[in-house]
Amino acid sequence: MSDFKIAPSILSANFACLGQEVDDVLASGADIVHFDVMDNHYVPNLTIGPMVCQALRKHGVIAPIDVHLMVKPVDRMIGEFIDAGASYITFHPEASEHIDRSLQLIKDGGCKAGLVFNPATPLAYLDHVMDKLDMILLMSVNPGFGGQSFIPGTLDKLRQTRERIDASGRAIRLEVDGGVKVDNIVEVAGAGADTFVAGSAVFKARREEDAHRYDSVIQAFRDALAKTATP
Ligand code: DX5
Ligand code: ZN
Repeated sequence: MSDFKIAPSILSANFACLGQEVDDVLASGADIVHFDVMDNHYVPNLTIGPMVCQALRKHGVIAPIDVHLMVKPVDRMIGEFIDAGASYITFHPEASEHIDRSLQLIKDGGCKAGLVFNPATPLAYLDHVMDKLDMILLMSVNPGFGGQSFIPGTLDKLRQTRERIDASGRAIRLEVDGGVKVDNIVEVAGAGADTFVAGSAVFKARREEDAHRYDSVIQAFRDALAKTATP
């Protein structure tokens, strides 16, 4: 049985009606809400913070919220997002002075913890923290913006990461973020990813006859994934 998860990035949603957008994408079959936090410091863009995460919980969202922190420093935001109802909190190791401490803060708050690797960030950051990870997120674009093209070198990095996860024997999700589309998801899954962030691919695929439905694209992802044997 496959355990692939589709995680639409709300960065590409209509922020003027975000609660409805999240309801719609979940009703269309999404598994996880991917929540991009940018601070105009670690990345050159500014998005949403813990108040918006909390607002989604108060709106009634019960699906996992996957908070991708593109902020520096990270530790203060970890506490805020624990209180705001995050499920996963992932951060970029370059942005933390004390990676082990930041991971432990997330776990102590009852959330699932993950590290995020930019295209040029070495996997060596995994060496001493595998026992604290619930997720590894490989960026397949440089972080900061939706709608960029998938960087092909990510495939080899995914394979290397999958080997590390399998060797650890731990249940660590392998997520990929950036430029994931219906026409490349099979290759991405074949390289070892099991959790797929897709922003523009999902939110640009609103159904013409029903603006609240994104089910065609999500089903297209699932149909494509059904062709792969793993995980
Ligand atoms: C980029 C973000 C991504 C982005 C993906 O920094 O982390 O989550 O929204 O968007 P697409 O799928 O359009 O590349
Ligand atoms: Zn992201």
